Amino acid sequence: MKENIPNHVAIIMDGNGRWATKRGKKRTAGHLEGSKTMEKLAIHAIKRGVKVLSVYAFSTDNFKRSEEEVNYLMNLFIKMFKSKMKIFDKEGIRVIFSGRKHPLRDDVIDAMEYISSNTKNNKNGILNICLNYGGQEEIVDASKRIINDVSNGILSIDDLNKDSFYKYLYQDLDPIDLLIRTSGEYRVSNFMLYQMSYAEFYFTDTLFPDFLESEFDKAIDSFQKRNRKFGNVITK
Ligand code: FPP
Repeated sequence: MKENIPNHVAIIMDGNGRWATKRGKKRTAGHLEGSKTMEKLAIHAIKRGVKVLSVYAFSTDNFKRSEEEVNYLMNLFIKMFKSKMKIFDKEGIRVIFSGRKHPLRDDVIDAMEYISSNTKNNKNGILNICLNYGGQEEIVDASKRIINDVSNGILSIDDLNKDSFYKYLYQDLDPIDLLIRTSGEYRVSNFMLYQMSYAEFYFTDTLFPDFLESEFDKAIDSFQKRNRKFGNVITK
């Protein structure tokens, strides 16, 4: 059933480290399991009719983690983007990225370009991977580009409004309908601040590696029961 499926779902994939620690494993084992969950969810979400799935893979602040963990994640991203291209392509999923390039390693940027250019014509849905991403940083970067365009006569100040602002974000996507955060934390952690203005929130104690298809479906069920008002009065 595709009725009232959120168009844009965003996920803060939290709890990988705890998932691993609980099993007596290194935190990195949680990231590996999380990457498998992310792949399954992307395929499932698009099959269910979600048009855009945004995932928080690495925040600008995640560089504060140990060198070992950061390196592990960067190598995992490279492996994933190189090896999963065919699967996402087969599913008709277009992979795009949001975030700053600097200070990502060249081999990470190459792998990002590899998967995004090879999936660019796919039409079933979009997987927006937020990597070296920060929501406040995105708004600052957009503001700089706007100032630049105004200074160069490309944009008139009168044409800037809350809709045209989207064009200056890392990706020009529809607003988020449903924001999911796993692992029992109730924070937005600098994720897609501009795009989540009217998002419905779904929080679950489930740790991200365990947030598989049936858990995702529960979030969709919850969304379908919400009465979205967008500042208006209740219509039900
Ligand atoms: C948060 O859990 C998770 C991350 C910082 C990394 C998310 C990365 C993945 C799911 C891996 C794969 C993604 C792609 C796009 C290939 P945490 O480490 O903060 O967990 P904790 O709060 O339990 O410590």
